[in-house]
Amino acid sequence: TLVSSTPLLTEARKQGYGIVAFNVHTLEMLQAVVEAAEESRSPLILQTTVGTVKHLGIDYIVGAAQAAAKQASVPIALHLDHCQDFELILKCIRSGYTSVMIDQSMHPFERNVEMTKKVVEVARALGVNVEAELGKVGGVEDDIQVSEDMATLADPEECRRFVELTGVTTLAPAIGTAHGIYKGEPNIDFKRIGEIAERVSVPLVLHGGSGIPEAQVKRCVSLGMAKMNVATELKNAFTLSLQKFFSEHPDDLDPRSYMSVAKKTVKQMALEKMKLCGCTNRA
Ligand code: 13P
Ligand code: ZN
Ligand code: NA
Repeated sequence: TLVSSTPLLTEARKQGYGIVAFNVHTLEMLQAVVEAAEESRSPLILQTTVGTVKHLGIDYIVGAAQAAAKQASVPIALHLDHCQDFELILKCIRSGYTSVMIDQSMHPFERNVEMTKKVVEVARALGVNVEAELGKVGGVEDDIQVSEDMATLADPEECRRFVELTGVTTLAPAIGTAHGIYKGEPNIDFKRIGEIAERVSVPLVLHGGSGIPEAQVKRCVSLGMAKMNVATELKNAFTLSLQKFFSEHPDDLDPRSYMSVAKKTVKQMALEKMKLCGCTNRA
């Protein structure tokens, strides 16, 4: 069965490694990251955005994730990424999601606290993990777009107060990463991560995982980032491998042929990310 991500992430923060949360959009992408987790003995967080929930349907996603968890010998959690809609969060929890993100980062601190608290109240009794964001992560993530000059970093003292006031079980502080692929390198404020980690004992979440140079990922993880979200790189790898397949085999129209190739590509990338975050052989 699917497990809550709270104990997985708590252990990761304690031991100083990161668990990778992969945004998946198709059955094959889901299977690919599950296979990678099995093969490398990694705890796994499957993650879907609101856009993907609408695209696939909650029950199909939960059904596939539960099927994976039933077969797997590693712990698997199912997380709802960047959701602003309280009702949808409730629906996902009721349907079997074991972890949710309430994203009110576009609103003032007080409103963010209030909404996050509401979600925590529902989730706590069920053991469902709750993630919230402070500051604003830049870039584009499905329907959420934050331009570079609108992105703001999280304030360490606010982080402390936020966790205290809401009881949130994981915190995603904006520290300079962005959704999507970076034009140059991300401008990560490592000192700030340290200051936040000093004040906040819950696992921290690194958004915008695609495109961060390896050494910087490792440094973030060592500072307390216990979950790293990877969306764009995985999606691009999946689609580019299909493009390549079709240009090389224009006459092979069997989904089982091209999907197998795409799946293999995604699995390979997932293995690399898991190794990078140090979560292999932790399950
Ligand atoms: P990337 O698209 O940069 O991997 O960001 C992922 C993310 O933060 C999902 O919430
Ligand atoms: Zn994100
Ligand atoms: Na990114």
